[in-house]
Amino acid sequence: MFSPPSLRSPARISVLASGGGSNLQALIDHFAGPAAKAGAITFVASDQEGAGALGRARAAGIATGVIDAPRDSDAILSLLDTAKTDVLVLAGYLKLIPDGVVRAFHGRLLNVHPSLLPAFGGPGMYGTRIHAAVLARGVRLTGVTVHFVDDQFDRGPIIAQWPVPVRPDDDVATLAARVLQTEHQLLPICVEAVACGAITLGDDGRVYGEVGMPATLAPRTPR
Ligand code: GRF
Repeated sequence: MFSPPSLRSPARISVLASGGGSNLQALIDHFAGPAAKAGAITFVASDQEGAGALGRARAAGIATGVIDAPRDSDAILSLLDTAKTDVLVLAGYLKLIPDGVVRAFHGRLLNVHPSLLPAFGGPGMYGTRIHAAVLARGVRLTGVTVHFVDDQFDRGPIIAQWPVPVRPDDDVATLAARVLQTEHQLLPICVEAVACGAITLGDDGRVYGEVGMPATLAPRTPR
């Protein structure tokens, strides 16, 4: 079986974000809290100089950087090497990660997506477009997926998925807000599990280990 890459303990976690950074904030809060043992958020970068995520990082005293060339593996790897990155997390990062970075961070590169992949994923499916498509399709259950990243949008091996019900009176805003709440819960748990080696990605592309689901979310087994 694939032996997990040698991770520092605690692991140094870098986060890439393009937007407001509420998922980043959930990570910052989790890893600043008493429950976190496996890592620390030590670097945040964005392809958007004015991204709210960078402001949140600065407010937390975390080093920040700007990605000027999102397709340039060497430039991104240089930023991440300077930050001594063990684990890389995409928290609302909207650019495709170049192959060189995907290869260098095999089994240590995670993304959060606000649907139950493979449904409602892939190029162009991001932000409120996802929830609009969910409502338009009339599905009754959506959710959150955290997965390892490969060279295609939203297609990598899945680490965990938690369900989120769609309510009859939902609009895009109410559904997006409910899904985002679940993202904020699931992403830190998955990052912690990868950072401590409890979840690994095998050379066979399979995910080893699992993240539990709260009893409130788990389907009740019929008596
Ligand atoms: C989240 O819904 C995330 O799943 C998606 O982009 C959004 C980012 O939100 N990739 P925030 O910037 O973390 O608030």
